Amino acid sequence: MGARRLLALVAVVVALGAAAAALQPINVTTVAFEEGYTPLFGFDNILRSGDGLTVSLLLDRSTGSGFISSSMYQHGFFSASIKLPSDYTAGVVVAFYTSNGDVFEKRHDELDFEFLGNIRGKPWRVQTNVYGNGSVSRGREERYVLPFDPTTEFHRYSILWTRAAVVFFVDDVPVREVRQSAAMAGDFPSKPMSLYATVWDASTWATSGGRYRVNYRYGPFVASFTDLALLGCRVDPIQMLSSSSSGRSAECAASEDALLASDLAVMTLEKQLAMRRYREQNMVYSYCHDTRRYPVPFPECDVVDSERRRFKDSGHLRLALRRHRRPRPAVRSARSTRAADM
Ligand SMILES: *[C@@H]1O[C@H](CO)[C@@H](O)[C@H](O)[C@H]1NC(C)=O
Ligand SMILES: *[C@@H]1O[C@H](CO)[C@@H](O)[C@H](O)[C@H]1NC(C)=O
Repeated sequence: MGARRLLALVAVVVALGAAAAALQPINVTTVAFEEGYTPLFGFDNILRSGDGLTVSLLLDRSTGSGFISSSMYQHGFFSASIKLPSDYTAGVVVAFYTSNGDVFEKRHDELDFEFLGNIRGKPWRVQTNVYGNGSVSRGREERYVLPFDPTTEFHRYSILWTRAAVVFFVDDVPVREVRQSAAMAGDFPSKPMSLYATVWDASTWATSGGRYRVNYRYGPFVASFTDLALLGCRVDPIQMLSSSSSGRSAECAASEDALLASDLAVMTLEKQLAMRRYREQNMVYSYCHDTRRYPVPFPECDVVDSERRRFKDSGHLRLALRRHRRPRPAVRSARSTRAADM
């Protein structure tokens, strides 16, 4: 390697290091459970802490459980620190998502974090997904291995949804960005959504496609939520879609402009680099690489050849690359994780 190329490489590495170190921690106002949420199902399996700041959802033989935001939101930032059930959790799914499936049955929008149950000793995987206007036949799943043990400590998971983009975050790191585009049309979520958190028995599909079912000898399975954050414009979806609501729409537009201009939404170079790095290290499946299921890639998929080669035509990361992956020790802040890598 020539001296100049070496220097260039060093410059890139230094820049990446600086970028990683400069990633801003997510700083949002959190709310107590009572202030923003209401029980949805499995009431006896929803346990609140004395101070009302933490809520635990249980899945046992009788039922799972879930809560929902008391309002619907037209765009926003939805976030919680979550601790997942520990030990043997095959078939258990913990979901943290926005949806309006109850209001718009046939043309619903949805943004998902789904934590897919786990056989003891294996790293946990999380799946993100995006649906718009009932695009249920076009799943846009991506799966990542979590580079920490999500059962021993709380980690923050966030969904940012603006008219411009959807961004999923794990701790302070953006892990996926889907930008609104004309080509995506209605598949980009556009109608008011509620925030949901649930734990349920998904024996039929969650773990290795249903090979491992929920074993209730290891129950109850407990998912805990704290640092709850809901930023966005509260709307009544029916009113919103009628013409009498232009005043409210203007108010929502103003609040969204503020969100778009905030640190949360601005995709700095540092964030883009951190996102790329996260995806290179942790992504194990992407619909963009799944040419078996989708011979014609989606308009929002920017498939780079070098990345494409790492995945099979089933969309899964090649096994050889997967084997090298070992769960790293739990480190609370994403920043120190990266620092340790450098
Ligand atoms: C977080 O935001 C609040 C107000 O929005 C501000 O007062 C506080 O200083 C911020 N904290 C950090 C660590 O930036
Ligand atoms: C959503 O779907 C409905 C039909 O299912 C269609 O009439 C409507 O135009 C779609 N909206 C968008 C924004 O694509």
